[in-house]
Amino acid sequence: MGLLADALRSHLGTRAPQVALVLGSGLGGLVDAVEGARRIPYPALPGMPVSAVSGHAGEVVLGRLAGVEVVVLSGRIHYYESGDPAAMRPALEALAEVGVRTLVLTNAAGSVNPAIRPGEVMLIEDHIAFSGRNPLIGEPSDARFVGMTIAYDEGLRAATLRAAERVGEGLHRGVYMWFSGPSFETPAEIRMARILGADAVGMSTVPETILARFLGLRVVAASVVTNMGAGITGDELSHAETKEVAPRGGARLARILTEALPEIAA
Ligand code: HPA
Repeated sequence: MGLLADALRSHLGTRAPQVALVLGSGLGGLVDAVEGARRIPYPALPGMPVSAVSGHAGEVVLGRLAGVEVVVLSGRIHYYESGDPAAMRPALEALAEVGVRTLVLTNAAGSVNPAIRPGEVMLIEDHIAFSGRNPLIGEPSDARFVGMTIAYDEGLRAATLRAAERVGEGLHRGVYMWFSGPSFETPAEIRMARILGADAVGMSTVPETILARFLGLRVVAASVVTNMGAGITGDELSHAETKEVAPRGGARLARILTEALPEIAA
């Protein structure tokens, strides 16, 4: 077992979580709902990729959500920090090694669909890896040829939609398009994204989904929309806006995911 998995296992003790959640920009609020939380800063975990993006706390939180044992990764390293699309691979491998079977990915995103507004939440049904980078480049095994026809688990999607309905929160469905960042898109790129079939754009999640499928993890993912894509409203985009708006939609997403978790974990 790798060093990071060893370290995680020693913190887990007798806990055996099968679900991990990755919290995106400004979405760290979900951590407050974790019962019996044990918080471990990323730098205290050998081999854990550390993000330096403001608004990403960078800690592993162990505990229970809705009675389900979970590992929460609050903050993630992004492709744009290092140019390495596989930057999250050690973290995801360690989760798989300690017995995690299901990965819940969240992010902040810009909407390119006029029907999906800031503060609202979108379940990711499919993605477009527009950055052109793939985290499995260089992987020597035949396992690198990962099928992506149903990258986002159908059963988990259905469970999440049902949960949203039960708690009375709207949950859009759509396609997430991965831009490398860290600069935001231009208005022309946003028009292109729409034409190509995207509903939301963002700078994360897609490489983690590819890696997770490679590792045999089931994936469910959702975006909190923090802004309309560049040029749609005429306002300039900023990370400050992302951090300000994300917690609003994040609270909605937290309610939906908490309600969905017992079914997601089953
Ligand atoms: N584009 C890319 N990433 C984002 C955006 C956006 O408009 N908003 C939040 N993350």
